[in-house]
Amino acid sequence: MPNFESILSTIAQEVSNETDKGRVASYIPELSCVDPNKFGISILDKDGTTYAMGDSKEKFSIQSISKVLALSMAYSLLDERIWERVGVEPSGDPFNHLSLLEMENGVPRNPLINAGAIVVSDILISHLKHPKTDFLEYVRGIAGDNSIDYDESVAVSERKTGFRNYAAANLIKSFDNLKNDVETVLDFYFHCCSLSMSCEQLVKVFYIFMNRGNCLQNNNYLDLSKVKRINAIMLTCGFYDEAGEFAFEVGLPGKSGVGGGIVALLPNEFCVVTWSPGLNEKGNSKLGMMALEKLTTMTGLSIF
Ligand code: DON
Repeated sequence: MPNFESILSTIAQEVSNETDKGRVASYIPELSCVDPNKFGISILDKDGTTYAMGDSKEKFSIQSISKVLALSMAYSLLDERIWERVGVEPSGDPFNHLSLLEMENGVPRNPLINAGAIVVSDILISHLKHPKTDFLEYVRGIAGDNSIDYDESVAVSERKTGFRNYAAANLIKSFDNLKNDVETVLDFYFHCCSLSMSCEQLVKVFYIFMNRGNCLQNNNYLDLSKVKRINAIMLTCGFYDEAGEFAFEVGLPGKSGVGGGIVALLPNEFCVVTWSPGLNEKGNSKLGMMALEKLTTMTGLSIF
């Protein structure tokens, strides 16, 4: 294994010199309050050793990163039947785009765009007795950390300005691909997005996708085939219309969120999370992408 400690300190130093840190998301008002100068990075290797730098213990809004966790839970419940409701092709469009949804009869391209995650939310609501509590317990269980929680103020803030998500949910409903009512589905979706976690907590959750479905406590959450497929979806769809660029620059399956977090992993080797709130024009963390490019270039470790 490379010397992650010294590599992370070099990366943190280099990104701190960047003058353009991107722009903090403001379309969800609560997110705009975050300090753009925050930067954290954390690596968890296959042996369970953590390496961290900067604001890696500070919690942030994981936003779309939660889409992978909702998918993981719904996939476990439905097995391959899930793909009758949502596709597995990259969209090449921004995360909140609507036109493909109309053209493709309300079946979202993939589970990592907003429309896809709204369908996954609908599936979870239909199958769980207490959807918000059960999903939270699922995430806490994987991390072995009961302090993980929703941020109600972020969920409320997003509901007030979630016009495009309401549009997507209504369009999906009109094609009969939403079984529950729009308000219930979006309340669940907004809560998932509002999950608040630090880099050090998130690496522990995404450890299951790096470690053949097994968490740090060695409980199994996913079989190998599902892990393979979820990682493939992260690689091809995890960065929306920048998935090609992320594969090209970083070369790892991963997922971003508009809270400025990015998770990425090299199967059987390590999982990494970066947090820098400033986003590029595609809605992905600017310094996070830069840091991950440096990480895979300096270590020579990527899936390619
Ligand atoms: O639905 C939304 O717009 C947000 N809750 C999540 C978007 C997001 O994180 C996109 N990722 N880069």
